[in-house]
Amino acid sequence: MPNITFSSPKMRKDVTVYAAAGDRTTILGVAKHHSVEIDCECEKGECGSCTVEVIHIGNKPPMAVHVTEKEKLTLLTSGKLKKSEFDELELLDLAPRYRLACQYMLLDEDIVVKF
Ligand code: FES
Repeated sequence: MPNITFSSPKMRKDVTVYAAAGDRTTILGVAKHHSVEIDCECEKGECGSCTVEVIHIGNKPPMAVHVTEKEKLTLLTSGKLKKSEFDELELLDLAPRYRLACQYMLLDEDIVVKF
């Protein structure tokens, strides 16, 4: 069962929630369910307003490494990541630091979400 800790200067304190094992939901979905207000406009991975920093914690290597072409394009367009950074991350099979909360599907891994 993954722990997701939301952290933001917009919140009085960090909030840690537990996502049900096997839930196929996004960071944004869990945030909304727990009344954590992450900016979002399109919820389709197109506007970049829901960009968050994802920090993996715990002993397991990051699982949600895959980034769709749409998410990649939006992150590149918003300037959060450079193409050279993406190329290097893909080569090493590593997850980028910045992700779209509406596109990041939660897996069984503990993360901190900063926004
Ligand atoms: Fe637009 Fe996530 S809300 S990219």
